[in-house]
Amino acid sequence: MNMNGKTALVTGANSGLGKALALALARDGWRVGLVARNVERGAAAIAEIRAATGNTDLHLFIADFTDQIAIRQLAVAVCDQFEYLHLLINNAATAYSERRLTSDGIECTFAVNHLAPFLLTHLLLERLKTSAPARIVTVGTRMNTALDFTDLNWERRRYRMMQAYGQAKLGNLHFTFELARRLNGSGVTANCVFPGIFNSNLGGTDGAQNWFWKSIAVLFGWALPTPERAAQRVLFVATDSTFAEISGMYLGNHHQLLKAPAQARNAQINRQLWRISETLTGILPAAPSPLRQLRL
Ligand SMILES: NC(=O)c1ccc[n+]([C@@H]2O[C@H](COP(=O)([O-])OP(=O)(O)OC[C@H]3O[C@@H](n4cnc5c(N)ncnc54)[C@H](OP(=O)(O)O)[C@@H]3O)[C@@H](O)[C@H]2O)c1
Repeated sequence: MNMNGKTALVTGANSGLGKALALALARDGWRVGLVARNVERGAAAIAEIRAATGNTDLHLFIADFTDQIAIRQLAVAVCDQFEYLHLLINNAATAYSERRLTSDGIECTFAVNHLAPFLLTHLLLERLKTSAPARIVTVGTRMNTALDFTDLNWERRRYRMMQAYGQAKLGNLHFTFELARRLNGSGVTANCVFPGIFNSNLGGTDGAQNWFWKSIAVLFGWALPTPERAAQRVLFVATDSTFAEISGMYLGNHHQLLKAPAQARNAQINRQLWRISETLTGILPAAPSPLRQLRL
């Protein structure tokens, strides 16, 4: 297959926006890698997309983003399977209703929404650069909340789901801005896209999430745009030639520029979070205890 000669990787591709993105790319003839954390849900999405598009060049990768070893294995599997990677869409996200820790001792919402895309992107960066022109699109939100650098791991405060979600998602913006700066001149762009509010399964798959998301879906889901519609916003930035050279942007509905919260417009803070994230993901070889870093 691979009709247009392009390869994309979409995280959280078994559901909601990620599945809609994978389907649209498959329909356009892309080779698509779908990342899911559950084999059955991932395989079901592949079967559905194959039936809808006729594209057989679809590849399932499994990784739970609370597990950094799994993310490292995922990156190895992607590089083994894909000689080129032209598009990475960091879409997977969730919100845990209670404070939970990963096996590395990191609060799960922060780990899945911010550290996982940070680590995965880092591990795939060389493949993206050798495939340039290439694009990295991270799906963001408007529910951003300033990060509390004195307590990133929620050890001193009472954990609040929406705040934890908003902080981790603001991490996507800090990450995108600093990444774009570092990638300047490499042929790889990095942008963050707010897809609008849409009907999805956000936070609803496992028992970790709570009534809040489910009630929103039940009460207002019917009135919200579909993930397919939201996907069009992301796809425009991910694939349209208008955005070939655009990097370091926070974009919203109709691809207009959004004003990022003040904290994310501060290059020094972006670098600070970058350094902490390097430590927490073990990218820095001499990383001290991650938890010590979290209590900065
Ligand atoms: N829905 C909205 O209105 C809205 C608004 C603004 C931004 N967004 C953003 O849109 C993106 C997609 O969300 P969605 O609304 O489409 O929700 P969704 O249907 O729940 O999709 C989220 C995806 O992330 C995966 N995921 C969750 N936890 C994971 C983990 N620990 N490891 C690996 N994958 C994991 C989910 O897998 P499972 O199916 O296995 O749970 C699912 O595939 C997110 O970045 C979200 O922040 C959504």
